[in-house]
Amino acid sequence: MTLDPELVKFGLQFVERTGASGNQCLSCHGKEKSQEFKRRSLGAIFSQLHQKVNVCWLDRNRMGEQEEIEEGSRVMQAIRTWLAKEYRLEEQLARGGK
Ligand code: HEC
Repeated sequence: MTLDPELVKFGLQFVERTGASGNQCLSCHGKEKSQEFKRRSLGAIFSQLHQKVNVCWLDRNRMGEQEEIEEGSRVMQAIRTWLAKEYRLEEQLARGGK
């Protein structure tokens, strides 16, 4: 399965972007970080990614943002696509889900 390179790139920019709290997604989820993303665990929750991402996005101790990321938005597509590429979850991506 070919992943849209623009979405992969946008997804990476998103997880490296500093949020209102001063954190980036990768401050917690990057390599060797306390909540390092793992392929198996991500695979298990991939269909609930929208909800999981918004918990982190809105929590003031995590990203501290105000507005929920909408399901189906380009940002959400980009996060999914980047994760699928980085953690070899193309099958889960193809299956779709929320
Ligand atoms: C300050 C630390 C922190 C930041 C920053 C943070 N998270 Fe999280 N994240 C957590 C913790 C702790 C958990 C585990 C508890 C939970 O599921 O809420 C988690 C869980 C998750 C999960 C579920 C992972 C799994 O394998 O079950 C996803 C997906 C996720 N975060 C995405 C993100 C994204 C995308 C961002 C940036 C927009 C982000 N997080 C920012 C701390 C953080």
